[in-house]
Amino acid sequence: MQDDNNKINNSSFLILNSTLPKHVGIIMDGNGRWAKGLGLLRSAGHAAGVKTLKKIITTAVNIELEALTVYAFSTENWNRPHTEVDFLMHLFSEYLEKEKRELNEKNVRIKFLGRINELSESLIKQIDDAEEMMRNNTGLRFNVATNYGGQDEIVRATQKIAKKVLDGEIKIDQIDSKLFESQLDTGNEVPIDLLIRTGGDLRVSNFMLWQSAYAEFWFTNTTFPEFTPEEFLEALKDFGKRDRRFGSIK
Ligand code: FPP
Repeated sequence: MQDDNNKINNSSFLILNSTLPKHVGIIMDGNGRWAKGLGLLRSAGHAAGVKTLKKIITTAVNIELEALTVYAFSTENWNRPHTEVDFLMHLFSEYLEKEKRELNEKNVRIKFLGRINELSESLIKQIDDAEEMMRNNTGLRFNVATNYGGQDEIVRATQKIAKKVLDGEIKIDQIDSKLFESQLDTGNEVPIDLLIRTGGDLRVSNFMLWQSAYAEFWFTNTTFPEFTPEEFLEALKDFGKRDRRFGSIK
């Protein structure tokens, strides 16, 4: 059993409960460049990314992180070559098929965010089945942003709210940030505390725009396939040193 005060205590890290973020987001970038650097196809980079993701989830479960949201496929990623898009869709399907039992055993609750209804019928069914299987789990809330765009999510939330007003369910002056938030794909999930981006680019790329309003950022040149649990923990440790003021002063 882990000591109550310690979430992690291995040779190089000691993180106290109080310093852990509740919700971590990851922009898993650099798969293609990693593969190219080794003379491999981009798809090999995505396959290697899955292996990294599995290790990160295991770590997140071990440290009892509350929520992890990863950017798997953006609304803009459809513009990639068909072969790459097909490969990624196949990878998501294979991932669910192979991993859902283990995720369930780890008490993980999986949820997909984004325009899921635009995916293939068979993938939608797999997603529904996996979400249903893990619906009552109480451990890590693992959100997979797939066919997701932050602006698109905000527009869809606005449409849902406009419909509620038109249907007479709510009045315009009842619309506040709490109600707005509840209509996002993340629903009542806690905000992102720490946003990690691998692969060296210093941008948000339409990921969790609302939910990252007060997130701390961790950018690394490490590509996602090379990203390790140790570096993940390093980012979490660094988070613990940040002075979060949420627009206020001390
Ligand atoms: C960005 O790297 C990565 C993606 C568009 C796909 C991310 C998907 C995975 C890591 C697969 C695992 C996901 C699940 C849920 C099973 P890039 O291809 O843009 O890299 P580049 O910038 O080097 O080209």
